[in-house]
Amino acid sequence: MGSIGWVWVRYYANMYPMQSDEFEYWLTRAAQWSAHYRQTIDSRPVRSQVSPGDIRRQIDKEPPQKGESMETIFADFDAIIPPGMTHWQHPRFFAYFPSNSAPAAVVAEVLTTALSAQCMLWQTSPAATELEVCMIDWLRQATGLPDSFSGVLQDTASSSTLCAILTMREIASGFNTNRTGLFGHNVLRVYASEGTHSSIDKAMWIAGLGQENLVKVPTDEHYAMDVNALAQAINDDRQQGFTPAGIVVCVGGTSIGATDRVREICELARREGLYTHVDAAWAGSAMICPEYRHLWEGVELADSIVWNPHKWLGVPMECSAHFVRDPSLLIDTLSIQPAYLKTNQEDIVNFSEWSVQLGRRFRALKLWFLIRAYGIDGLQQRIRNHIKWSQQLAEQLQQENDFELTTAPILSLFSFRYTPQVIASIDKPNERAERLNQINRQLLEEINDDGDIYLTPSEHNGNYVIRFVAGQFDMQQQEIERAFTTITRVARSMNIE
Ligand SMILES: Cc1ncc(COP(=O)(O)O)c(C=O)c1O
Repeated sequence: MGSIGWVWVRYYANMYPMQSDEFEYWLTRAAQWSAHYRQTIDSRPVRSQVSPGDIRRQIDKEPPQKGESMETIFADFDAIIPPGMTHWQHPRFFAYFPSNSAPAAVVAEVLTTALSAQCMLWQTSPAATELEVCMIDWLRQATGLPDSFSGVLQDTASSSTLCAILTMREIASGFNTNRTGLFGHNVLRVYASEGTHSSIDKAMWIAGLGQENLVKVPTDEHYAMDVNALAQAINDDRQQGFTPAGIVVCVGGTSIGATDRVREICELARREGLYTHVDAAWAGSAMICPEYRHLWEGVELADSIVWNPHKWLGVPMECSAHFVRDPSLLIDTLSIQPAYLKTNQEDIVNFSEWSVQLGRRFRALKLWFLIRAYGIDGLQQRIRNHIKWSQQLAEQLQQENDFELTTAPILSLFSFRYTPQVIASIDKPNERAERLNQINRQLLEEINDDGDIYLTPSEHNGNYVIRFVAGQFDMQQQEIERAFTTITRVARSMNIE
């Protein structure tokens, strides 16, 4: 379109809907930008290098009274936003856990946004609900869960865990607390290992059960929940008049990948009549490979399981697979049917009755695209590579005199620290420990300022350690070799007195 045409379109757009040829033009521009971004992402620093306030200063203080041209808006996006982004799709993103977004699934996200359906009830988009039922079943089969499990796509693992804790609360109170509140009920207790994610604590707050009633059970030498200590804690609580309600089991914890013994805990829970929820937010994706399923051996005994295809599998945020053995318990906890939500259909699923939020995105489409485009084989191959390469890096670092592994790899996650001779040889243990913490803090900062790779810290046995997680969807082995070079280069160029 000529420039006069665009002037006219801009004037027109202030008052009238965007015309379909202009919409198509900007979608194409966005697609071109996205493809170019992915192609050149390698040249960007992985972690954003801006300072606090840098982006805010570039945004107008007040909203525009009149509409602006898409050209101006797009140019501002390109200039202001990418430098302020941390590039989660960068092949050398080794921080936190991955938040993958495979290209085929990105295409589905565009379509989802174009449809922009609110998929709360079957009738508000039958295709969304029925595809969700199918995709949950594909994931169930892919991870080897028995067909007695059904499930729902929640937004996040935090929400799924909240739903599970609310279910524990309702079951333990005879499905009364939604009606009466917690007052007058026995104090309910939930059990989890010391290594579980903070989303469990938060779910306790939101469910009104309280932080103090999340019993943090000590771990054994493998950082798994000590099942004898768990049994003792449940027993002690009963003696003191508390009501045990459920257990959260951790598979692949955030800090170092700590993993509880699922079967033993679920068997104990069954004897005690307690509801079990397995949090495998990150590690769940690896369960598509049969050889890693020993990590959650016995999971078929659990009542509720969550893992995030939006972490490692390749689905863009947000997509959390929440499986339940008996959906009626979840539905009895969360279903509410005011007149305006009632429909005439029978034998259908209304997924808003399975979750906290009423309004729901069409989450299944991106899973459908992802699994069909790459196949289970393609997804398995990626996960196997990530695990293999990560373990190679762990071995390589371990062989260096001035590095030590602080925790062995669990799947593709391990932790390490820099132990230069000048500090490792300090006689006084406290001083040595403090100096090692300080030097590793400095190392991490310098690595992330360098921008070539991105790592995040954790604490293990009271020490500051650096985590490494491989998992970006299309990363290759060379990125791991580059990580080794960067880590050792930055460490050895530090000024240490
Ligand atoms: C083990 C574990 N559980 C739960 C969560 C929370 O996940 P989400 O961000 O989907 O709420 C995380 C996040 O990293 C996690 O690592």
